[in-house]
Amino acid sequence: MATLDPSHRAAFEAAKGFMPLDEGLALHAAAGDAAARLPGLPLLEVGTYCGRSTILLAAAARAARTVAVTVDHHRGSEEQQPGWEYHDKELVDPEVGLMDTLPTFRRTLHAAGLEDDVIAVAGRSPQVAAVWGRPVALVFIDGGHTDEHATADYEGWAPHVAPDGLLVVHDVFPDPADGGQAPYRVYRRALDSGAFTEVSVTRSLRVLRRTGPGI
Ligand SMILES: C[S@@+](CC[C@H](N)C(=O)[O-])C[C@H]1O[C@@H](n2cnc3c(N)ncnc32)[C@H](O)[C@@H]1O
Repeated sequence: MATLDPSHRAAFEAAKGFMPLDEGLALHAAAGDAAARLPGLPLLEVGTYCGRSTILLAAAARAARTVAVTVDHHRGSEEQQPGWEYHDKELVDPEVGLMDTLPTFRRTLHAAGLEDDVIAVAGRSPQVAAVWGRPVALVFIDGGHTDEHATADYEGWAPHVAPDGLLVVHDVFPDPADGGQAPYRVYRRALDSGAFTEVSVTRSLRVLRRTGPGI
């Protein structure tokens, strides 16, 4: 299993974001595995936020001489808006009065020394997926957590996972008492399609491998 460079681990732990260390190490291992088995294909993340999980994909991409692509409109999800549980007022652009996580994301990548290993796409996930034209070694879904957004992320990006590539879904909670159900429904849909087989479970982080054609 790929080990995370201590400087990248320190940058990850210092970054703002929502990825715990144990799930992050599982994501990094999955990214390293996919990148090594499918040389030359990029790793793709939906839900950059401030770059905490992006560091993990970027470190794996660097080790395999590929690249991590990360997609976010940088205006925050529903639960990150003012008045909601995960709002961070330091991330509001005072000039336009809206969330803007892009400047903090750029500082995160700079601090990690991983700027050259990442292509950041500022845009809405379904629109980016619709113009995306090549297979990817791994898709990591950690964008909007409503049914509308999680479903659009799955429908937009799952078809781009290469055969034997990985689909990773964060915040999968089978028990509604533990969290929102949209990522769980997407995870179930992927398994029920017959196109994906579960590879690993690290708390709410689920790693699936593309083993079949239909999605
Ligand atoms: C839970 S946060 C991502 C956390 C990040 N992966 C981490 O490790 O800290 C979700 C992010 O998804 C973005 N997002 C939500 N819906 C989106 C959409 N439809 N298109 C692009 N980005 C979206 C939000 O702006 C937010 O930054």
